[in-house]
Amino acid sequence: MVVTTQHEASQVGVKILLAGGNAIDAAVAVGYALAVTDPCCGNLGGGGFMLIHLADGKEVFIDFREKAPLAAKRNMYLDKKGNVLDGLSTKSYLAVGVPGTVKGLDFALSKYGTLSRQQVINPAIALAEKGFILQAGDVRILQANQKKFKDANVANIFLKGGKNSYEVGDRLIQKDLAQTLKLIATQGTDAFYQGAIAQKIVSASQDNRGILSLKDFANYSVATQKPIRCNYRGYEVVSSPPPGGGTTVCQMFNILEGYNLKKLGFHSVESLHLMFSAMLYAYRDRNSYLGDPAFVKIPLDKLLSEQYAEQIRNKINRDRAIFPDSIKQNYSREGTNTTHYSVVDKYGNAVAVTYTINSNFGAGVIASDTGFFLNNEMDDFTSKPDIANQFGLVQGEANIIEPGKRPLSSMSPTIVTKDDRVFLVTGSPGGSTIPTTVVQVITNIIDYGMPVDRAINLPRLHYQGSPNFVVSEPYALNSKTVQNLWEKGYRVTPFLTWGAAESIQVNLKDNSFLGASDRRKSAGKAIGF
Ligand code: DON
Repeated sequence: MVVTTQHEASQVGVKILLAGGNAIDAAVAVGYALAVTDPCCGNLGGGGFMLIHLADGKEVFIDFREKAPLAAKRNMYLDKKGNVLDGLSTKSYLAVGVPGTVKGLDFALSKYGTLSRQQVINPAIALAEKGFILQAGDVRILQANQKKFKDANVANIFLKGGKNSYEVGDRLIQKDLAQTLKLIATQGTDAFYQGAIAQKIVSASQDNRGILSLKDFANYSVATQKPIRCNYRGYEVVSSPPPGGGTTVCQMFNILEGYNLKKLGFHSVESLHLMFSAMLYAYRDRNSYLGDPAFVKIPLDKLLSEQYAEQIRNKINRDRAIFPDSIKQNYSREGTNTTHYSVVDKYGNAVAVTYTINSNFGAGVIASDTGFFLNNEMDDFTSKPDIANQFGLVQGEANIIEPGKRPLSSMSPTIVTKDDRVFLVTGSPGGSTIPTTVVQVITNIIDYGMPVDRAINLPRLHYQGSPNFVVSEPYALNSKTVQNLWEKGYRVTPFLTWGAAESIQVNLKDNSFLGASDRRKSAGKAIGF
């Protein structure tokens, strides 16, 4: 079973499984295919996390998050007075972190896959070279971001005839990208990190006031780590360690474990108040303690301990909200600009991948004829302590910019097991909303007994303390609940939708797979056999 946000990419994954590949082969092939078919988000020019549960029970977390260039500086996005310069960390080459995706996918394939690099990249090459027919969901993303396709080499690919937006039924052909993929397929990661591709990116960066160097590419390394884990009502939640978002997911679960959410009722004022309180405390800790573990010491044992969760529960007043200070925000209204996908195979392997170029179409730039967008992941760092980034996250010293450091992420590819068997594979895009999406998907299933398709598609809520309001997808709550929450102290603000929790649930009785694609991204598809 393969579930992704783009139907062609889901097909690619399934074909790999049908050809005898395992879930890791399929996940790598999907990673390359999404780089072609979901160019807002799927990528070669970004980074991400892959969480693998192998059939023998071993769990592996592969961190291919971008790194800050060696010439990066703590104050690189500030003016002389120390104010954040608008757009520097989000647009153009200064916003670009050293990409990790190509090395990450290759690492996963060589360690845990069974097929050749050529075999898993071929489907992506075909999709780029021959093109694919755009559906409504594909076109919507391209049209909504048209103004980002300014540079001639970008417009020539993503606008019809370099001018007009693509329409449903048009074929999107990406010859440059096909060429890049062929280079990687034949020459391996060296083509990207030592060869022609690195040279083109570095030279475009130098021409556009960027700081990327050949050394940044040559030095880039993938990291492996032990995943984060927590027990929630008899289920084992396995998720991404720092610099990922799984710590925040597990902190929320540890706090919520002490309450009977089921008895309090789905979306009751009481259960929402406890959820929001758990969110508030978990995000406070995220923003102060978390960062790249290669650079900062994180008190993970404390943050994930039962005693700490108990201490937090003791601070939660059952009657009213806790008000953090309100801070001026520039909150992003785009919520699905990353992509998550889930794969399980018949052997018992499961893979959860979330990878990204951060904003939709990343920094909005493509280096010469490489054909792929570069990320703007540098915005995930603390540009300045106490000043919010594009996701409204007000972060601290732990996530300050340092050369070679990975920016803190919220991405939380997650696998839930029961008695050592895979029960759920999930995750989502959505910037700072990712951990609360993952928690809601899982509580919907575990506490409220929903099947996975309902659990991922119900409207969601999100609270991160700052900004000091709860954001709500349309019609998540009825007006009475909103009023009652108001009286408790919560300001609920309607928002657009966010996230796309492409998930797979395993029926533990008969071992059948239930795949569910999130309707928020209509190009997505769950395919199994
Ligand atoms: O790593 C992170 O947390 C962000 N760069 C993810 C960005 C994202 O999900 C964009 N979607 N709204």
